[in-house]
Amino acid sequence: MTRFRTTGRVALTGLLVLGLAGGITLLPVVGTSGADADPFGGFKELLEPLLDKDDGTSDAKKMDGAYRLPELLGLEDPNDYVPAGNPLTKEKVELGRMLFFDKRLSRNNTIACASCHLAEKGFTDGMPVSTGINGLKGGRSAPVSFNRVFSTAQFWDGRAATLEDQSIGPFINPVEHGFADHDEMVAKMRRIRGYRDLFQDIFGREIMIEDVGKAIASFQRTILSGNSALDKFDMGGDETALSESAKRGLELFRKKARCTKCHSGFNMTEEKFHNLGIGWDTNTVDLGRYMETKNPEDVGAFKTPTLREIDRTAPYMHDGRFKTLEEVVDFYNQGGIKNPHLDELILPLELTEQEKRDLVALLKSFNGEGWQHVSPPASFPK
Ligand code: HEC
Ligand code: HEC
Repeated sequence: MTRFRTTGRVALTGLLVLGLAGGITLLPVVGTSGADADPFGGFKELLEPLLDKDDGTSDAKKMDGAYRLPELLGLEDPNDYVPAGNPLTKEKVELGRMLFFDKRLSRNNTIACASCHLAEKGFTDGMPVSTGINGLKGGRSAPVSFNRVFSTAQFWDGRAATLEDQSIGPFINPVEHGFADHDEMVAKMRRIRGYRDLFQDIFGREIMIEDVGKAIASFQRTILSGNSALDKFDMGGDETALSESAKRGLELFRKKARCTKCHSGFNMTEEKFHNLGIGWDTNTVDLGRYMETKNPEDVGAFKTPTLREIDRTAPYMHDGRFKTLEEVVDFYNQGGIKNPHLDELILPLELTEQEKRDLVALLKSFNGEGWQHVSPPASFPK
């Protein structure tokens, strides 16, 4: 499945980016526990608080509890974005959470989605590029995995059109979870009785890769970010939510600094692809979107990322080159990096030092709420 390859990278001088690395501490995931005798490995108990009680319905009905996403200031209603083919239920979301954190879903039990998407780092990993199975490094920085419910193109190059598709990609990425193919992973999962039973209960059949995708996508849709200081000021009319400097920054963001040419709309992205020149000053260039479309206009283009939680998700850009927002603003101020495919929307900005500070003050007001509830499950199905 070429759709799930890591990157389309051209080694201009033959330099290979894949290589051995190490030393990255991965998120410690709580170990498995729970009664052996219980086919759910204590999972039913875990689900209990999430299920509607006293509604007099049968167990089967209870296993189908609808899940409504919260409406947060600054965001459109996320419930409108949940696809009809995969309605949210509490059980699916909870199963997805298990799968997101379970390291057994990697070839050698060392990597989970949560190894690279850490809640406290805005669901990125804080590294320039991610380190996956056996210490292997990929060529791109881990993007945020919140507000995915609103997105129609997943990954830096948009190669997955649905979150269901995206959610099963990493398992067969050789530098992420490392399975040879999805069959190998599903076979491994089917040996875990707790998962067998849960999938049977929720999807009414044995474990299938599509259902793994549906559960993880459901969980990912519950991770949101809204209600930021900017939203309180802009939507809530709270004049005190932003500092004077950030208010000036907002003016710049929308006008002189041209940021909203691309970072527009409530999720601060128009979900299009642009070449900013990132990588063109090195001897390896990632062709990005072009590898998907083979359209010359897409050479070196990457998806405009959301800027929500941007203060938590350093380092920045698809290759993780910038450590601070000051560096990002300097980069835009100088008009990106020259190359034959530079997006015409990228121009030198001629910002003063004060204006740069104001813009950074604004960027620091994008931290919000809607993801803080996410934590690793206390136990995993056995
Ligand atoms: C080894 C680290 C690693 C692991 C493990 C990993 N990811 Fe990622 N994730 C990344 C990187 C790097 C990218 C960007 C890749 C690209 O765009 O080509 C990414 C991209 C994504 C995106 C796209 C976000 C966007 O803005 O388009 C989502 C969502 C996501 N991962 C969720 C997951 C899920 C779910 C899992 C587990 C099934 C997972 N990741 C496992 C590193 C990882
Ligand atoms: C032409 C469209 C465009 C404009 C204009 C634009 N951006 Fe971006 N922005 C992008 C794209 C595309 C990326 C990812 C580029 C890459 O990694 O190759 C990005 C990345 C970023 C990032 C890093 C995000 C992350 O998760 O790593 C920040 C921060 C950012 N932009 C802020 C701004 C600010 C501030 C402005 C205004 C000064 C601005 N952008 C103007 C398209 C744009």
